[in-house]
Amino acid sequence: MSLEAARIVAGVMQKKHNAVLGLATGSTPVGMYRILADMNKSGEIDFSDVTTVNLDEYYPISPENDQSYRYFMNTNLFDHINIDKARTFVPDGSAKDPDEACRDYEKALKKVGKVGIQVLGIGQNGHIGFNEPAKNLEVLTHVTKLTKSTIKANARFFESEDDVPTKALTMGMGTILRSRKIIIMANGEAKKDAVAAMLKGTINTSCPASLLNLHKDVTLICDKAALGE
Ligand code: PGA
Repeated sequence: MSLEAARIVAGVMQKKHNAVLGLATGSTPVGMYRILADMNKSGEIDFSDVTTVNLDEYYPISPENDQSYRYFMNTNLFDHINIDKARTFVPDGSAKDPDEACRDYEKALKKVGKVGIQVLGIGQNGHIGFNEPAKNLEVLTHVTKLTKSTIKANARFFESEDDVPTKALTMGMGTILRSRKIIIMANGEAKKDAVAAMLKGTINTSCPASLLNLHKDVTLICDKAALGE
């Protein structure tokens, strides 16, 4: 899965030296980042003109906190490649005013231009970014409350469930769907129901990932366990 995803991302970078990459955190893309860093070391891909934009960040959290998504991106990718960190964007989890931080993020996204490829994971509840299942989904980057299921799923990275932040800043559904190309990765049985809901052929805000059916260039990369029947 990681190799296939890395090949697709590398393909976008090789076609456009100043590509804008939309990146995700979580356990799923870690292997892909390792391969991209290796490909960078061997000279197959070059990040010197690349810009990255991340999906989301906990709120409130400082960028130095080792649970922040900024820290995750630095340690899993940015510290190992020839990228200019000034061109790596993650929503500002340490902003005083979170709503303003979201508006600023949309402004920054507008400035960097169209995302060439957006990498996504999927939550067990069908979320993408931190767009959690709800009656209404937001279009643009916004502050969101994490659902109990997401807090539970992410507790494994923290000392206890109580330490998981309850809010986040996340790109909205419209922000994500603006990307030219999307890959979504899912592995393991825990993702089976979410993947099935996404592939059912209907769209429903109870499975935010199902809205990807509205996009014309989405690739799902998953293992047999996540694909189920
Ligand atoms: P995971 O998270 O890769 O850690 O499973 C995916 C997600 O919640 O979007």
